[in-house]
Amino acid sequence: MTYARITGTGSYLPEKVLTNKDLEKLMDTNDEWIRDRTGIKRRHIAADGETSSDMAVNAAKKAMEMAGIGPDDIGLIIVGTTTPDKIFPSTACIVQRKLGIKGCGAYDVQAVCSGFMFALDAAYRNIMTGGSKVALVIGTETLSRITNWKDRTTAILFGDGAGAVVLEASDEQGIISTHIHADGSMEELLHVPQGVSQGFDITRAGGAYISMNGNAVFRNAVGKLGSVARETLAGNGYTEEDLDWLVPHQANLRIILAAAKKLNLPMERVIVTVDEHANTSAASVPLALDIAVRDGRIKRGELLLLAAFGGGFTWSSALLRY
Ligand code: ACO
Repeated sequence: MTYARITGTGSYLPEKVLTNKDLEKLMDTNDEWIRDRTGIKRRHIAADGETSSDMAVNAAKKAMEMAGIGPDDIGLIIVGTTTPDKIFPSTACIVQRKLGIKGCGAYDVQAVCSGFMFALDAAYRNIMTGGSKVALVIGTETLSRITNWKDRTTAILFGDGAGAVVLEASDEQGIISTHIHADGSMEELLHVPQGVSQGFDITRAGGAYISMNGNAVFRNAVGKLGSVARETLAGNGYTEEDLDWLVPHQANLRIILAAAKKLNLPMERVIVTVDEHANTSAASVPLALDIAVRDGRIKRGELLLLAAFGGGFTWSSALLRY
């Protein structure tokens, strides 16, 4: 039996840091309010000219180094991103070129904050059905480019960064199952109200910026993260007691606390990194995973539940033996 297993993780955060104190100079907000409502202390911001593909390549190289593989070993690249370098080609094709690879399949997935999880689902199924042996799965975002820095209700929440994993065919079980969901009926609760086929007009109300109903997003995020976690555990005959770690989407500490409570999971078994980099959308889960692998919290053989929620709405999970 062939399985698909994560053999390397990597992440990248841009050098420039914007603290809550820095935000106080840009808008009517304060460090205490932001920490209280979100748990966020700082976010990283891409340099001028630094793109989603640049950050993706940095994260990918670290994941490849950990896995001990070179560019020629890679048979598939999938990038989850809401902030592609260009309308086309895909950011995955640009990443492929920057890594010096030719010929393997490369494409983007757009599922907003669930982008990496949807990409992982696709890569897992590709490996399990013999499509490839080694896949590079990446989440990368330059959300600072679609953030309205005059809007205190959204600007405090987001940051830039990238995370990546190498997923390889293996005799040892890694991924146990993946689950993806969407409900397009609540599109306007969390969206950027501009796009290619509508014709861009940044003077139109809302501009090309993230627009959000914070309270509705909060309620839906907690509910869907809880339901997808229960679906995943029950579907595989596990309970929350069996889990070593929950690695949730890093949007907001209060969402993570509420989701963990719904699952009866003590916070000692939940990975939280949102304080250091804010919400990096599709990059959030692989970033948190890599940080916790490298600081020694997550160890080989442990049972992990990755879960995300984002615009669409989309929600998703993966249960795996690391
Ligand atoms: N600084 C200071 N005050 C603020 C700020 C700010 N940055 N933003 C809003 N306020 C004020 C409001 O104007 C309001 O003032 P009022 O009472 O005088 O009217 C007050 O603070 C309370 O505002 P609420 O919106 O009720 O605050 P709430 O406790 O709901 O927190 C928040 C808002 C943090 C946005 C919350 O709703 C939330 O976390 N939602 C989820 C959003 C999210 O994570 N989105 C990310 C994308 S989706 C995803 O990744 C899951």
